[in-house]
Amino acid sequence: MLDQVLAALKLRDGGIYVDGTLGAGGYSRGMLEAADCRVFAIDRDPEAIRGGATLLAAFPGRLTLIAGRFSEMEQLLLDHGVTAADGVALDIGVSSMQLDESERGFSFLREGPLDMRMSRSGPSAADIVNSAPPEKLSRIIGVLGEERRAKAIAAAIVKLRQSQPIVTTSGLVAAIERVTGRKRAQARIHPATRTFQALRIYVNNELEELAAGLAAAERLLRPGARLAIVTFHSLEDRIVKRFLAERTGAAKSVSRHMPLAKSDREPSFIPVTRGHREADRDEIAGNPRARSAKLRAAERTAAPAFPLDLARLEVPLIPEGRVSC
Ligand SMILES: C[S@@+](CC[C@H](N)C(=O)[O-])C[C@H]1O[C@@H](n2cnc3c(N)ncnc32)[C@H](O)[C@@H]1O
Repeated sequence: MLDQVLAALKLRDGGIYVDGTLGAGGYSRGMLEAADCRVFAIDRDPEAIRGGATLLAAFPGRLTLIAGRFSEMEQLLLDHGVTAADGVALDIGVSSMQLDESERGFSFLREGPLDMRMSRSGPSAADIVNSAPPEKLSRIIGVLGEERRAKAIAAAIVKLRQSQPIVTTSGLVAAIERVTGRKRAQARIHPATRTFQALRIYVNNELEELAAGLAAAERLLRPGARLAIVTFHSLEDRIVKRFLAERTGAAKSVSRHMPLAKSDREPSFIPVTRGHREADRDEIAGNPRARSAKLRAAERTAAPAFPLDLARLEVPLIPEGRVSC
């Protein structure tokens, strides 16, 4: 959705922009080509930062690569003397590079260590799978993977790990297939999809990171600056939708479970996209992962930033502590 993101950001010469999710550098390159601007590109994955070196050479003096989490973007930019930005882009989720590298352990299609840590630090997916109590595993898989058979899959994991630790992607797939059976040809998604998604989100604390990243961008953006966020599944999109609904004053009908009261506060954003935008057919043909992408964008007003409230954003929390890498 690069073209749509660049259009939403309304890049201008002399502007300061944040690419909160550098990945393979597609958004940063697009920003740097679209205007004579400066880009601060953040990624928590040290390999993404290493890979960004080629971009540094292509745009001398205009790109700064920063290893870290986008929830900390204010401090990360302050370290470079920057206190306000003209645009922030977030392309949420896992990169193709991460998915395609078997030793990162993100993909159930590739044999590798059960790792899934974007930052390569902190507890891995294997640590969680081999040590979490069954109720917690079940909640992680049920809530963050929206997996119907979470309880049974958690029980199968616990049973398998009693005989041997589950340390590889194929080991986890084997535990899941004890419940789901092997993938049938007509199945729409692989039976391990939801469990792998759940563990990845949990290991990287992705939903809280997203909420905190949106709030950090809100504080960093100057009036008239743009925020553009691309998400890939409903748990992420719901947080972005609620965040923007509340802050644009359109909060009423976001969720029937927890209606947001219309705020008395002055809106801190005005919408740029009406609802969300999706990838066009050509993009989906070239990259099937774009099928589920949703872009939302908004422009910062001069009103003070709202306080961050995870409950109002319905960020699902897993009890018994969180993992933050
Ligand atoms: C979907 S990819 C971005 C792809 C990128 N837009 C491109 O054009 O190549 C997401 C990237 O964001 C990084 N990431 C995810 N959560 C992050 C966070 N909280 N802080 C910083 N980087 C994060 C991942 O490591 C990954 O490299």
